[in-house]
Amino acid sequence: MSKHKNPYPGENNTGHFWDDDSDIRELNNRPPRWYMWALYMGTISIIIYAFYYPSIPWFGNHNTGSANWTQISEMKESVQQLEDYRQTRFADQEKAIQEKSLEEIVLDEDLRDYAVKTAKVLFGDNCAACHGAGGQGNVGFPVLADDDWLYGGTLAQINATVTYGKKGNMPAKGMLGNLNDQEIETLADYVMDLSQGKGKDNVAGKALYTKGMCMACHGPNGKPPAPTAANLTDGIWRFRADDQRASVVRTIKHGVNKIGDLNTQDADMPAFGKSGVINAAQLKKLVVYVHQLGGGAKVIPPTPPEFLPVATNGSSFDAVLSAAEANYKKALSAKMAWRDTGAMIKEAKKLHKAGKGDAAIALAKKANTQAVNALAQAAVADFAGPRF
Ligand code: HEC
Ligand code: HEC
Repeated sequence: MSKHKNPYPGENNTGHFWDDDSDIRELNNRPPRWYMWALYMGTISIIIYAFYYPSIPWFGNHNTGSANWTQISEMKESVQQLEDYRQTRFADQEKAIQEKSLEEIVLDEDLRDYAVKTAKVLFGDNCAACHGAGGQGNVGFPVLADDDWLYGGTLAQINATVTYGKKGNMPAKGMLGNLNDQEIETLADYVMDLSQGKGKDNVAGKALYTKGMCMACHGPNGKPPAPTAANLTDGIWRFRADDQRASVVRTIKHGVNKIGDLNTQDADMPAFGKSGVINAAQLKKLVVYVHQLGGGAKVIPPTPPEFLPVATNGSSFDAVLSAAEANYKKALSAKMAWRDTGAMIKEAKKLHKAGKGDAAIALAKKANTQAVNALAQAAVADFAGPRF
């Protein structure tokens, strides 16, 4: 630092010089105006921000801010926006899902697609924890992606399961609780045999199956007549285990959902119908989703009205002839009719005029049968058939 006299008197410098020529010196100017403004604005913003948003931690929490904003509320708003968007963008589909029956949804390819796509997330949120992400099942929870159903694979049955829940019940030690340990071992061998299609040879086991009254639920041969209990003949285990025979012994000994027995097999499918977790439309989507995962019973489309044959109203010539004419006309417009049906109708009229009543009725009947058959074919071929 130089010690000589300040060569710039009145310049608002501090008197510090950094070089011998006294060129580089420390000034004492105010900061530039833009800089000060930025500082003021910044300070004001901080105060406003601190009032408006949650900012200052106190008493184990923080001030909530006058805007009541949180990240959670912002996320919820976004989800709601997405839902609103879906409701408007897919309003038609959402309405159709609400109004149509499960069968109608499955038969409508576009609507089914929509239901399945939107149900995937619902399945992940509500079902996958137990049934696996793709419905492939988990230990203790049944596979949904196969055609082995405990409670049936029709739309109505799946709907009943998901709506009302299911809790399979099986008594311990046989229906009357009268099987001893040795008998249970023999019976378990029989059940293992059944699962491999060898039940017939195990006479002692079969007798115990009768004594335990297992057929009441599992059917006379291990195949339940109605979807009420596990099928014991298909080798698909509801209570899968590394030691399958031990699992069978346990099931017979301790039953399923037997209250007060710690070793009982648990099987509790929650009821979603009134749980409030999902609404009615979402439940429908899930039923359609599960139905198409694999093994859902085929839905047969109803015959559209244009292919439904007109019934014959009595056995008189006029009745038979008018049915034949009506059905022929329908078949023609469905582009699926035999020309000689028309010729037969003409011929039948001629015979009728000529007084040959029986022959006329017989021919009119034949023409009608042919027209009805043509309609049946048209219904299957969906207008695609040729016209003969
Ligand atoms: C807490 C676990 C759990 C959750 C969550 C759950 N399930 Fe289940 N589910 C079960 C159990 C256990 C069974 C078997 C009940 C039995 O064996 O009696 C079952 C059975 C079923 C069946 C019958 C399968 C058959 O073979 O007949 C269907 C269908 C089904 N669940 C669908 C669903 C759907 C759809 C969801 C989601 C909305 C769902 N489950 C959520 C545990 C669960
Ligand atoms: C009251 C009806 C009922 C009777 C009686 C009954 N069961 Fe069951 N059983 C069931 C039901 C329901 C299940 C399936 C449990 C479920 O998934 O909810 C089952 C499951 C089983 C299983 C497990 C199958 C698997 O795939 O893991 C075995 C083994 C079995 N039963 C054997 C028997 C034998 C042997 C008897 C006769 C001593 C018998 N059951 C009597 C209702 C019955």
